[in-house]
Amino acid sequence: MKIVIGCDHAGFGIKNAVKEHIEKKGYEVVDVGTNSADSCHYPIYADAACKKILSGECELGILICGTGVGMSIAANKHKGIRAACCSDVFSARLTREHNDANMLCFGERVVGIGTAIDLVDAFLDAEYMNSGNHVIRVAMLADIENGNL
Ligand code: RB5
Repeated sequence: MKIVIGCDHAGFGIKNAVKEHIEKKGYEVVDVGTNSADSCHYPIYADAACKKILSGECELGILICGTGVGMSIAANKHKGIRAACCSDVFSARLTREHNDANMLCFGERVVGIGTAIDLVDAFLDAEYMNSGNHVIRVAMLADIENGNL
């Protein structure tokens, strides 16, 4: 499975450590930048990462900015992306199991590298339950995107 990772300048400080951790877990990682601490615009990297998922090249993604919030707002503008901004492990696990989230976002200014690694583990190790009300509700998210709810 390929995982896409992206960040802005405020997430760059932990991106490489997160990336190395994901690679150690046995995943291939596609890095869409940014690649320095120079100020940049998070929507550009959110958009690049979402396109990797929507094209089918990557299955899941990780986006890091200062808070995780800007990245998640930008990612959720894309039809078919379900991005969750998390700072606790329970939410990172449940958003895969219940929401079939395909993008995890967090903030370097909110979580340290230790929690970031725990969030990534919770997200990547969990599986969508794909049954019952969860399926109905995830389908309703697509209905909202299509103006059909
Ligand atoms: C950059 O200063 C900061 O605004 C950005 O990384 C992110 O936190 C936005 O949501």
